[in-house]
Amino acid sequence: MDFPQQLIETIQTAQHIAILTGAGISAESGVPTFREAQTGLWAQYDPQELATRYAFQQNPRLVWEWYAWRRELVSQAKPNPGHLALAELARRVPRLTLITQNVDGLHQQAGSRDVIELHGNIARSKCFDRDHSVVTWEETGKVPPRCPECGSYLRPDVVWFGESLPAEALHTAVTTAKSYDIFFTIGTSAVVEPAASLPITALKNKIPVVEINPQTTPLTSYCDYALSGLAGEILPALLDALEV
Ligand code: OAD
Repeated sequence: MDFPQQLIETIQTAQHIAILTGAGISAESGVPTFREAQTGLWAQYDPQELATRYAFQQNPRLVWEWYAWRRELVSQAKPNPGHLALAELARRVPRLTLITQNVDGLHQQAGSRDVIELHGNIARSKCFDRDHSVVTWEETGKVPPRCPECGSYLRPDVVWFGESLPAEALHTAVTTAKSYDIFFTIGTSAVVEPAASLPITALKNKIPVVEINPQTTPLTSYCDYALSGLAGEILPALLDALEV
């Protein structure tokens, strides 16, 4: 796989690399993305219509069970060569900030540290009414289970459409934006705000932006480098190219 020489040199000399990932980087680990056709049991539901407070209020059981299915998928998934390449890249450069929209924890499993999770983590739960963080609960057969502290329904500790992002994670992602030497956007359709604005901010600050995605996105034509293909193939090849 060939990469532009200027891209290789920019990475080799970068003091600070920023990377935004989305569901596409976990696709090769078997975790379905959000905007591509769903298969199997849940094919009839649109994830965008299940991932809201309104959906949970209307049908808490349905939403809980959808997340239980995704949690099960995620628990069986293993990091793929794309996740592993990013963990390795972080060991080779002075500073790397990894920002993910994913809730699957696969970057951390691959060895990445200090991952900024913009949309929470599906392995954690909290209660609907008061955000109590809940690690264990009594299985009474009721779905969703109830918060041991206040009795309200439990829900996954992920960000739903219309909800605010974790303030600290967003603050870190935004405030460090000006210090990046290069910004990668990998496996994201680049449409969900505020994550979608991060590469735009980089472009406005004249920071080179690299996209890795087999499809075009609203961002593709603005990127300095659009690498079309699978993250699990392009990222290991890019690591190899850096060594030459
Ligand atoms: P999407 O499902 O919107 O987009 C996945 C992107 O990954 C698409 O552009 C695919 O073309 C690309 N893709 C698929 N396979 C790939 C591969 N092997 N390598 C590289 N790219 C690949 O997922 P996100 O952009 O992550 O939010 O979605 C953003 C947010 O919307 C999610 O975090 C979630 C969702 O609703 C919440 O739940 C709040």
